[in-house]
Amino acid sequence: MKYADRIAVRSRIEMDRMREVGEQTGEILLKLREAAKPGTTTAELNDVADGELKRRRLNSPFLGYGPGGLPPYPAVICASVNDEVVHGIPGSRELREGDILSLDFGVEAGGFHGDSAVTIPIGPISEAAQRLIDATEDSLTDGIEQMVKGRRLSDIGAAVQKKAEAAGFSVVRQFVGHGIGRQMHEPPQVPNYGRPGRGQRLQIGMVFAIEPMVNVGTEKVRVLEDEWTAVTSDGELSAHFEHTVAITEDGPEVLTRVPGSH
Ligand code: MF3
Ligand code: CO
Repeated sequence: MKYADRIAVRSRIEMDRMREVGEQTGEILLKLREAAKPGTTTAELNDVADGELKRRRLNSPFLGYGPGGLPPYPAVICASVNDEVVHGIPGSRELREGDILSLDFGVEAGGFHGDSAVTIPIGPISEAAQRLIDATEDSLTDGIEQMVKGRRLSDIGAAVQKKAEAAGFSVVRQFVGHGIGRQMHEPPQVPNYGRPGRGQRLQIGMVFAIEPMVNVGTEKVRVLEDEWTAVTSDGELSAHFEHTVAITEDGPEVLTRVPGSH
C-alpha cells in the first residue's frame, strides 16, 4: 500500500468536528429539499444553499473545485435533473412536475468536510421513477450497513450493487464514493459495485462518503460540453443518494443525517 493510499483514522476530537460539519450539511440539504418545487430554478436552490453557508459562516468545498484540469466548479450545489446523473450545474432551468432532482451538497468548516446527496420527486412522479429513487436509497442503506469494523472495503460496493440490481437497475461505474475528512476526497475510492471480501479491512475511525448512482437503463454515462454534467448515455432516469458515514465501536454512524432527512 502506497503512503498516498492510506486511509485516515480520525481521533475522537476529529470525529466530533466531523459530526458538527456533517450535521450542518444535513440541515442545509434538508432546506434545499423543502425549497425545490415546480417552477423553482436550480439557480434559486444554489442561492438558498449559498445564503445558508454565509449565515452559518461555513465554506463550500464544491465552489472552485477543479481536479485534473477540469474548469473550476461554479456553484455550491450540484442539481441533476432526470437523466442527469451527477454534477449538474445550477442554472435557469425550472423544475417541472414529474421531474426527479438529485441535490448534492458539501460543507467545509474548521478543516473538515461533510458531503451528502438526495434524489427527490418534484410533485407527483411516475411509479417507475419512484421505484428508482427507493431502490437507490435502499442500496445506500445496505452499503452503510457494511461499515463495520473488520469488514472489507469491497463489501460496501458489493452490497450496494446487489440491492440496486435486484430491483432491476444498473449501477454507475464511472463515479465512486470516497474517503472524506480533511479533504472532500480522500483515499479510498469506494465503488458501488464489485465482489465482496476484497480490499482493506475497515477500522474504527474511518469516514467514507458512500454515494450510489443508479440508472434505469444502461450504467454508461457521458459528460456534457460544460465538462461537468454527467448524463445517462441512453437518456433514461438516474438517481443518487449520499451520506458521510463513520465507522464507530457501535457500528456505522451516519454523520449527515438530521431529523426529517433521508
Ligand atoms: N459530492 C460530489 C462528490 O463527492 C460532488 C463534488 S463535485 C463538485 O464528488 F465539483 F461539485 F465539487
Ligand atoms: Co461525494
